[in-house]
Amino acid sequence: MSLCYLNGSFLPLAEAQISVLDRGFIFGDGVYEVIPAFGRRPFRLDAHLRRLDRSLSAIGMRPVLAAGPWAEIFARLLNTNEGEDQTLYVQITRGVAPRVHAPPPNLAPTVLVMSSPLPRQDLAQAVSAVTHEDFRWQRCDIKSISLLGNVLLRQFAVEAGAHEAILLRDGQVTEGASSNVFVVHDGQLYTPPHSQLLLPGVTRDLLVELLADTDDAVREAPVTEQMLRSAEEIWLSSSGRELAPVGILDGRPVGAGGVGDVYRRVLARYQQFKVSSRER
Ligand code: PDD
Repeated sequence: MSLCYLNGSFLPLAEAQISVLDRGFIFGDGVYEVIPAFGRRPFRLDAHLRRLDRSLSAIGMRPVLAAGPWAEIFARLLNTNEGEDQTLYVQITRGVAPRVHAPPPNLAPTVLVMSSPLPRQDLAQAVSAVTHEDFRWQRCDIKSISLLGNVLLRQFAVEAGAHEAILLRDGQVTEGASSNVFVVHDGQLYTPPHSQLLLPGVTRDLLVELLADTDDAVREAPVTEQMLRSAEEIWLSSSGRELAPVGILDGRPVGAGGVGDVYRRVLARYQQFKVSSRER
């Protein structure tokens, strides 16, 4: 049975309980993080904790723990639970209170951390995607637990036989239902710039950083629907799936329909970085 952390205690996940009046349950009033861990060590932990604190601040909550105590909780779960590679899931809600929309001040937040094994995956295996209008709200930069829009969009993709939905708002790509999007167009690598309409992905930002001084430097610039549809390569990035090449978009092959040269180079660079950060 997997161990979790809930409000200061470690206990088996099956025994963890919260009140039905938790504002996360009633309103989706909370934020979360998904942190990959390779060889039982969190990857890009500082960036994930910074984003967690930014999400909390965006909904008017204070940081819950400092980096040291977070790291101790994560280490205990990662060393106890199954899997050399795992994903940590952190969820913080505003806490428990009678159901009124306006958040009462000074509630004790509900803090949950759990982890699950991360299956080994072939990152060079192409996936398929479909496009969909981005009908979500306008604060997609907050990693909110209110994910109904993302859930419905992913359901649409799955029902269409695809892995991911790539979202379009006003003729431009924002992101995937649970990933960021990169395209190679006319030999140049692009990803949409940070804005309130997409999540600042930790994997996305790492790729931008790793490629900055290379021939594959990423241009953080708008990606139009037309660029997406005529792209030589499309890939998705996220903490769970890392980097995934898209071979088919809306039933048509992307570029030559396989895994592109730029993807292969970038994947090699990313994997090299993963190895070197484990050795540190
Ligand atoms: N999702 N955009 C959205 C809407 C996401 O949900 C995610 C990740 C990303 C990629 O961000 P990162 O590289 O920091 O994982 C972009 C996680 C994995 C999830 O909800 O399970």
